[in-house]
Amino acid sequence: KARIGVLISGRGSNMAALVYAAKRADCPFEIVLVAANDPEAGGLALAEAEGIATWAQSHKGMKRAEFDALVDAQLRAARVDYVALAGYMRLLSPEFVTRWAGRMLNIHPSLLPKYKGLDTHERAIEAGDRVTGCSVHVVTAELDDGPVLGQTEVAIVAGDTPDTLAGRVLIAEHQLYSRVLADFVARETTPEWIVAKVGELALALPETD
Ligand code: GAR
Repeated sequence: KARIGVLISGRGSNMAALVYAAKRADCPFEIVLVAANDPEAGGLALAEAEGIATWAQSHKGMKRAEFDALVDAQLRAARVDYVALAGYMRLLSPEFVTRWAGRMLNIHPSLLPKYKGLDTHERAIEAGDRVTGCSVHVVTAELDDGPVLGQTEVAIVAGDTPDTLAGRVLIAEHQLYSRVLADFVARETTPEWIVAKVGELALALPETD
């Protein structure tokens, strides 16, 4: 099975969805490490209770690349094959993105390329959109950019607030992430495949060890 490291900053419900999906015998991945940039992240206790190794340290007072190197060391020590960002609310250093090029996915609560960044639900409602949703994409150097691997549309209903909408999109996120991650790792992710899928990222293919 592919070994997944999940990075979280808070509640960790998407991480939990991946953990539960991985319990199915036919799931092609297992969660081997949950790492957080906040020791108070709620998801940590959940991961621990499920018997998953956790690591947490605050990034405060550290340079971005310096902190990311610590995270990378943890991922390597856990022999992680792929990284799944799950509510990881921290920009990544170029070094870290390069190191995991083609092997790191993110889930974002909008139909990318719409509404990159924060407050996605508020912006979708204010724009009068009738549909929003969530996207899983390959992480590149640009925030919430990179090839989209899967999306789920979620209808916006009259009276929706950012909170009610977020709650429904989250249900879709939990289903989408495990499905896309399973497809992604089950594929032959050869350097050629990554070149085809991720294009210029191939220039920065990581050493596989
Ligand atoms: C999720 O909605 C995720 O899509 C979003 O944060 C939430 C985390 O919830 N991520 C981003 O906005 C990333 N830019 P969770 O901790 O319960 O998974």
